[in-house]
Amino acid sequence: KMNTYISNLMSKMTLDEKIGQLNLPSVGFDITGPILSQGVEEKIEKGLVGGVFNTYTPAAVKKLQDLALKKSRLKIPLLFGYDVVHGHKTIFPIPLGLSATWDMSLIEKSARIAAREASADGLNWTFSPMVDIARDPRWGRMSEGSGEDPYLGSLIAKAMVRGYQTNNLSSRDAILACVKHFALYGAAEAGRDYNTTDMSPNRMYNEYFAPYKAAVDAGAASVMASFNDINGTPATANKWLMTDVLRKQWGFNGFVVTDYTGIPELIAHGLGDLKTVSALALNAGVDMDMVGEGFLTTLKESLKENKVSMATIDQACRRILEAKYKLGLFENPYRYISEERAAKEILSDGNRLDAKAITRASLVLLKNNNQVLPLKGNAKIALIGPLADNKRDMIGNWSAAGDWRKSVSVLEGLKRYAPQMEITYAKGANLVDDAHILKQINNNGADIVADEKSPERLIEEAVSAAKKSDVAVVVLGESAIMGGEATSRTNLDLLPNQKALLKAITATGKPVVLLLMNSRPLTLEWEDANVTAILETWFGGTEAGNAIAEVLVGNYNPAGKLTATFPRNIGQIPIYYNHKNTGRPFDGNELDKFKSRYIDSPNDPLYPFGYGLSYTTFSYSPLSLNAKVMSPAGKLQASVQVSNTGNYDGEEVVQLYIQDIYGSITRPVKELKGFQKIFLKKGESKTVTFSIGINDLKFYNADLKHVAEPGDFKVYIGTNSRDVVGSTFTLVK
Ligand code: IFM
Repeated sequence: KMNTYISNLMSKMTLDEKIGQLNLPSVGFDITGPILSQGVEEKIEKGLVGGVFNTYTPAAVKKLQDLALKKSRLKIPLLFGYDVVHGHKTIFPIPLGLSATWDMSLIEKSARIAAREASADGLNWTFSPMVDIARDPRWGRMSEGSGEDPYLGSLIAKAMVRGYQTNNLSSRDAILACVKHFALYGAAEAGRDYNTTDMSPNRMYNEYFAPYKAAVDAGAASVMASFNDINGTPATANKWLMTDVLRKQWGFNGFVVTDYTGIPELIAHGLGDLKTVSALALNAGVDMDMVGEGFLTTLKESLKENKVSMATIDQACRRILEAKYKLGLFENPYRYISEERAAKEILSDGNRLDAKAITRASLVLLKNNNQVLPLKGNAKIALIGPLADNKRDMIGNWSAAGDWRKSVSVLEGLKRYAPQMEITYAKGANLVDDAHILKQINNNGADIVADEKSPERLIEEAVSAAKKSDVAVVVLGESAIMGGEATSRTNLDLLPNQKALLKAITATGKPVVLLLMNSRPLTLEWEDANVTAILETWFGGTEAGNAIAEVLVGNYNPAGKLTATFPRNIGQIPIYYNHKNTGRPFDGNELDKFKSRYIDSPNDPLYPFGYGLSYTTFSYSPLSLNAKVMSPAGKLQASVQVSNTGNYDGEEVVQLYIQDIYGSITRPVKELKGFQKIFLKKGESKTVTFSIGINDLKFYNADLKHVAEPGDFKVYIGTNSRDVVGSTFTLVK
């Protein structure tokens, strides 16, 4: 039915109108790239636009949809895209934080709520999920993804796609997902955004591709090309990637859109002029040109010159029309436009309640000496720091439609959840003092104004508040705008002015709880050694202050686990748990010179992948396997008994890792292959069993065949990727 409908429509379309469908301008009140599209309304009327992005609200969407339906010749409805990345109006934690929940139902729920709100606001397409594996926290966009692990990243990619699209794209509250950025964007050299990626196919298939493929398998309707060069051919012009891998190997049948001016950027990459690169992109498998207008302005000529074929243009046009058909737009172009739904759905009490629960689950307790947390009910608290009474930064980067005024600060949350506590607030420092950084982030809306008090005075006030308190809670980190696109950093320490504040507070001798808000792993060796407790809160979204307060006062026992390794220092980067061994692995003996290590730093990270504490403690029994030998068709059961040995009820993410000891190619020291989030009452024990099958042992070999090789394997279960119990088994032929 769809094919006939579209063939019929296409038979009436002129070449210009077909090329028009491939055009995606920004109608921007919200600029997400370097240039802004011009003359959009006129182009819509002429049938030269397939969709628009960077606008929403029922009224704005209706206005443009009206233009397409009433003024254009064929009345083809428009797509309305937007960066609904971690919530639309109800903002959830930044995706890196969301991933720290290790909870697929919460993650799916966040995407579902985002889709319900976005669709009520006129949108039918989100540029999410961002599934780029990242091992380099210098790269600011690490905040937008799910960290470093392909297995966990794949589960999250699927959960997000399900949440956005449901299993019925034509339902009124489903929106198209767009998996991005295909591919390997997170591996930009030196952590510098947009930079080159040069990577072996082996690494691509085994370590980076899985989450993109998982999103495709889950039915993601669209894919966004990444900006970066990949082994000499930028993704936007990379036929191997966009056609051979994506369509032929993975069976993707949706449409591919560029990332912003990805097509004209191929000129700077050095591939040719606009006409040449536009033809290259189309021939590579790109269907829609975001903002670049290379397709719009050059494809006709390229067709005349036989640089592109009519069949290729038709195919791209058909893919866009198919997406519109699947959304039900031809049946009812206004199906996403409803003031009534918008008023009811957006920022509803229920959505906020869900957001609070999701944010609580994303918080990661990194340190808790002397059980200083949870705070005692009658404690005198000094709440210090530029992020302590801050609403603006709370919603994080890429919270495009989010209104920071609707967010809850930590101070507000604490007052609400600990009304009996005596809280003294002191700002203590400006969020950012560094003139160079300040200039750039303020240019992008950070709006940071230096306090009228001098830095010394701010610190003095904070120290005096700390001295009068039982516990100092110091809220430090980055400005939200220091994360996200184009925010690479070469230093991941706390900013010097914030560190000076923290040092002064620690010098009072009072217990210090460091609450962190940041977009990426920071280097926290000094903090780890000198403060009493550390709670990583990312940027927690609209309900951040309430969620954090509930954790601080012990209404909720934190259970988040890191999905990205926290390095000790910048020199260790890239650092990730699932690395390969070397021929000379370091065994801890520093006098053993010729080993793979640093002479000025340990090899191991500060906090490993999977790490996160609880207010209670868990103990693990030795690992037991129900057999030592597994056949290819068989299953093996690996079990541990986990006991809650502390004083609180709590959740634990029990993690399963496997190592293929000898392979036809080298294999990582450990790979996550399963996890279970369990709840244990104080004093309770549970046996946790993982079933291991052949698929858990497979990898892409030198011929890129997905195989499991007979031989010996190690299996580990533990509370993080470092602290595990283990055993071995053999896979037989
Ligand atoms: O979706 C984004 C992408 O992640 C970065 N460049 C701009 C796009 C659209 O806003």
